Order: sequence, then structure tokens, then C-alpha cells
Amino acid sequence: MGLFKSLFGQKEAKLVNVAPFGSQFEVPSGQTMLEAALAAGVPFPHNCTVGTCGSCKCKLKTGRVNALTDFGYTLSQQEIAAGFILACQAIPRDALTEVEVESQALDAPAPEGFVATLAETTSLTHDILRVTLTLDRPIKFVAGQYANLKYPNIRRARNYSFADAPDRDGRSTLNFFVRKVPGGAFTEDLFAGKLAGVPLDLEGPHGSFHLHPGDAPMICIAGGSGLAPLLSLLEDARKNRVKRPCAFLFGARTQADLYGLDQIQQIANGWADQFVFLPVLSHEPADSSWKGARGLVTQFITDALPGTDFATAQGYMCGPPGMIDAGIASMTEIGMPLEAIFYDKFTDESHSAKMP
Ligand SMILES: Cc1cc2nc3c(=O)[nH]c(=O)nc-3n(C[C@H](O)[C@H](O)[C@H](O)COP(=O)(O)OP(=O)(O)OC[C@H]3O[C@@H](n4cnc5c(N)ncnc54)[C@H](O)[C@@H]3O)c2cc1C
Ligand code: FES
Repeated sequence: MGLFKSLFGQKEAKLVNVAPFGSQFEVPSGQTMLEAALAAGVPFPHNCTVGTCGSCKCKLKTGRVNALTDFGYTLSQQEIAAGFILACQAIPRDALTEVEVESQALDAPAPEGFVATLAETTSLTHDILRVTLTLDRPIKFVAGQYANLKYPNIRRARNYSFADAPDRDGRSTLNFFVRKVPGGAFTEDLFAGKLAGVPLDLEGPHGSFHLHPGDAPMICIAGGSGLAPLLSLLEDARKNRVKRPCAFLFGARTQADLYGLDQIQQIANGWADQFVFLPVLSHEPADSSWKGARGLVTQFITDALPGTDFATAQGYMCGPPGMIDAGIASMTEIGMPLEAIFYDKFTDESHSAKMP
């Protein structure tokens, strides 16, 4: 990292303005925009600091930046074309740079550290576990957010989205849906039962994925363990009697990869407006009993809520990076503005060019 920085580093400090808050700070030679913002006490949104989580995404309004790692690992082509950058990977090139962060900054509790222990694991599919943790004290969060988990065997925390709706008084029992990643340090240990009795450091809440206010129709897409934050968000919205049309598309490979269907049914039953659930299978054998949709989940958006003016809709997506990129492309193609598309990409170390 030092080498990259000294290659890109400039001699004079550069000035950065952050809209809409009006904060201003200097970026000394060799520092990223995020490093300089935090050093100056500017509460710039961030989490991983290595270009994988997308929390520091902002829109470049004036000036140019050099990228330490390709923004395309985390941002979609549409976002890059619209001028979005990652502050933790950006070195300003010009004397003045102006960036804009999301104006509806999430009013979430500040992250804190907790001690978590593994209470139970339950198989949801052949490669997804429901992981139940108990905490030393209750945690408060906003539906859609995630927590960082760490223990001595891994250098860097892993992010896992809360699968439950939040509780006003906080929750001290938490569920997560964790997919096994072959060769993955954390998930291999978890699936091999090595985390039983190991105290885990849980830090959170993190993230800005949440339900944005209004009465816009909601197009939600989940893939794999990406079901967790969407169940949290939708269950919370159901409990709060949110009244807006909702299409929920769930992408899986085969019938054996579908799970959480009872919970989805309960949300659908209690939803205050139209609710359409559309599971889509990409690798179901042609001669199976499946009568539902087949193909890529992102190709079925218009089928789910026909007659909707998508220019007025909002998109909510969680899951594998490829699915999110395809979803952003499909949603923008049918007229949804980029600003109305919200997501958490479940990136892992294989998506980053720069490891700490
Ligand atoms: C905001 C957010 C929320 C998330 N929520 C969830 C969730 O709810 N559920 C869930 O299952 N996942 C979630 N994830 C993903 C999760 O954080 C982990 O990345 C994932 O579980 C893999 O962790 P791991 O330690 O098992 O794998 P890692 O050790 O990170 O390895 C992942 C893969 O990368 C390879 N790899 C490791 N190092 C390198 C390298 N240097 N270069 C190239 N390849 C490498 C490994 O061999 C493996 O195949 C989320 C991610 C984000 C960013
Ligand atoms: S803090 Fe920049 S991508 Fe995570």
C-alpha cells in the first residue's frame, strides 16, 4: 500500500469539500480521501477501508482522483459512469475536489464492540447455515444493517447482515445466514464446527442499507445468503404497517437452494399492500417438478409487478456481486434512477485487489 501511495502521492496538500454537509478538509500527500477525512474528524461513512464494502461511496462533483484499486471491484459500471468513487481508494489529484455523500445519512446507533458466543447453527440449505449468537448485552440496529465478526484466526473482520427485524430495546440473540465459501477462512472454520465455545468479537451496527421513506413501489432482490438483510427489512416494514406495493424476487440455483419460505409467507400474509413473491431458479434440472420461473432473477423484475411505473420505484438488493451488477443494469434499463437503487454486495477477499 505504501508503494502505491508513494507512486500516486502528490507534493502539496489537496482540499476536499463534502456536500451536502459543507465539511472541508486537507488531504496530505500520500493519504487517501477517507484517511484524511477521518484524521480531520469528518464523520465520512466507511467500514472496511480496503475498497470492498462500498460504505465510502460518494459522487465526484469537481476534480479528479487516482484510484489505489479499481473502483470496479465494488462499484457497478453504471455507478462509475455516473461519477461515483470510493473515498478509501481515492487520492485527489487537483487542488480542489468536491464530493457528495448520500444526503439521507442513516440515523443508526453508533457501532460498539460486543462479545458474542455461538449458541446454535441450523442447516438451511446444503451450503447456508442459520447462525445464532448470544451477546453480552443487547445491540440496537436499523433493519438492513450488518455486524463485523472477528476472532484470532482471521486478520480482518468479516461482515454479516442481521437476519432479524430489530427490537426497540435491542437484541441479545442474533441470527445470521452464512453461506459456505470454499477456501474461506471464516466460513470453513464455522462449517467445520471450530467456532463452538470461541468468544467472537462482534462490532456494529454498520452499513447504510435500509428502507428509504416514501410510498414508492419496492423491488427487492435477494440471492443466496442475501436473504438475511431483506428479511430483516421486510419483517420490520410489515411490523410497522408500511403500505406500499412490494415485489420480492429470490434467486437460487435449484429448489434445494430455496429457504426461508415460511418467513416470506408470513411477511406476505401480513403486508399492508400488494406483495408478490417470485422465486427464480437458474440451474433447476429441466425435467424436475418445478413449475415456477427459470433463468436469472434479475430478468424477471417487470414480471413481478406488471403495470408499475419503474421510474417511481425503489430497488433493494443483497447478495453476490454479480447478481447486484446485473440487477443495477436491469433496473436502470427499465427506467429506475440509480439514486433509487440500494444494495449491499456480499463481497469477500477474492473481490479485492488489496489485502490488509
Ligand atoms: C456488507 C456485507 C454484508 C455481508 N453479509 C453477509 C451475510 O449476511 N452472509 C454471508 O454469508 N456473507 C455475507 N457477506 C460476505 C462475508 O463478509 C464474507 O466475505 C464471506 O462469508 C467469506 O468469508 P470467509 O472468511 O469464509 O472467506 P475469505 O477468507 O474472505 O475468502 C473468500 C474467497 O476468497 C479467496 N481469497 C482469500 N484471499 C484471497 C486473495 N488474497 N486473493 C484472491 N482470493 C482470495 C478464498 O480462497 C475464498 O475463495 C457480506 C459481505 C459484505 C461486504
Ligand atoms: S470503506 Fe471504502 S469500500 Fe469499504
